[in-house]
Amino acid sequence: MNDRELVAHAAEFRSRAYAPYSGFAVGAALLARSGKIYGGVNVENASYPVGICAERAAIAAAVTAGEREFEALAVIADSPAPCAPCGMCRQVLVEFPIARVILANTAGDLRVLTPAELLPHAFGAAALP
Ligand code: THU
Repeated sequence: MNDRELVAHAAEFRSRAYAPYSGFAVGAALLARSGKIYGGVNVENASYPVGICAERAAIAAAVTAGEREFEALAVIADSPAPCAPCGMCRQVLVEFPIARVILANTAGDLRVLTPAELLPHAFGAAALP
């Protein structure tokens, strides 16, 4: 699966975003090493901080299905530049092996980064006693 195909999946998932408070719908598509694709959308809440981002929703869905190794994650929103994952999602992304993260917007712009490029000097399990 190429990057644009994965972005197309993310765009399809995005139509199910629940974002009544921000109006900013985000979709994510996570390609596991198994070849399966897991979707995520942002799910907001009247108690604003309780909402979850599309990227973490996709990772939760995949891990729930038994996946722990990933090829690529695509994330898309109607943003001026390709949608950048928030800091909390970056920390979740570095927890699992994943080759690349594809940032996209609905205008068709793409940017491909590694988790380490998204979150250099990340805190990780190696720091724990
Ligand atoms: N959001 C995501 O789902 N992913 C991102 O990469 C950026 C932000 C969500 C959180 C919130 O529901 C809305 O977008 C506005 O911040």
